[in-house]
Amino acid sequence: MQQLTLIRPDDWHLHLRDGALLNSTVPASARVFNRAVIMPNLVPPVTTVAMALDYRQRIMSALPPSMSFEPMMALYLTAETSAAEVAKAASDPHIIGFKLYPSGATTNSAAGVKSVEALAPVLEAMQEHQVPLLVHGEVTDGDIDIFDREKVFIDRHLVPITTQFPALSLVLEHITTGDAVDFVSQANDKVAATITPQHLLMNRNDLLVGGVRPHNYCLPILKRREHQQRLQQAALSGSPKFFLGTDSAPHVKANKETSCGCAGCYSAPAAIELYAEFFSQHDALDKLENFASRFGAEFYGLPLNQQRLTLTRSEWAVPQSLETADGSIVPYYAGQSLQWQLAELG
Ligand code: DOR
Ligand code: ZN
Repeated sequence: MQQLTLIRPDDWHLHLRDGALLNSTVPASARVFNRAVIMPNLVPPVTTVAMALDYRQRIMSALPPSMSFEPMMALYLTAETSAAEVAKAASDPHIIGFKLYPSGATTNSAAGVKSVEALAPVLEAMQEHQVPLLVHGEVTDGDIDIFDREKVFIDRHLVPITTQFPALSLVLEHITTGDAVDFVSQANDKVAATITPQHLLMNRNDLLVGGVRPHNYCLPILKRREHQQRLQQAALSGSPKFFLGTDSAPHVKANKETSCGCAGCYSAPAAIELYAEFFSQHDALDKLENFASRFGAEFYGLPLNQQRLTLTRSEWAVPQSLETADGSIVPYYAGQSLQWQLAELG
């Protein structure tokens, strides 16, 4: 096969940041994706509908007139989030849900949730108003090993939440373990998961063997090969519970290549090509369209995109570095070659 045409895909988990960097990040995603769920971990966090609509405006201002793109805003859940804000979010078509960051779990999560149990009233409101809960599923306790944090979060928090709120739509974001695959597979059809390109293409050897590779460092951290294989099987399985969410998360080179580097892989400049690489490696390019363009939209109850995107088989290399208003950014997979290239969007 030399050419592949898909329904235009959506990115169900994306960090665009703010300010002048939007002039780089917005076109990088809009070149491929029609819709994207925009993460709210700015400083200060995007906690209200009003803040999210302002942020959305700034995103739209950075969109070149020749491109189309629809940011679907996620609000940052805190201990102060009220049932009234949930109702407001439910009635605004630009808001897609609330993102639960355990406090201290990742970039700009200091304002996150310290007690998941205390969220019960707000989760009740989300269930009632049919507002999805998007979850960064890792505990942050110092005594829990970083490689076990996803499993412990599932056992400690997600099993109780899905039992107590069976009608709540819940997306476990950027899953990294076989435990997460099992949890999502066994849960009811209100529960789904996103999978990033780096967790499909890499495991912790790619982070640590032969030297530390800061551009492969993200959270949840890459796990051992057996977990990677479970994620690969989930993406290849054709189950509608598993769909595309890049978690593309830019940090400037100086903040990645340093003694205490930031977590995040900037995959947007090659996102669909990276997923095509994975599906192609597994001789399963016929599964890419459902994963990238159908299952997420169906889960969120949104129409499929009208446009089509064509990829051609033609080797290219991801750029070593990209210049942005904030400084140089090294994209995920920099310097490595990919077999599929974007040919056309129309
Ligand atoms: O690696 C990550 N980077 N994981 C996250 O959860 C957040 C993200 C970021 O915002 O940089
Ligand atoms: Zn993220």
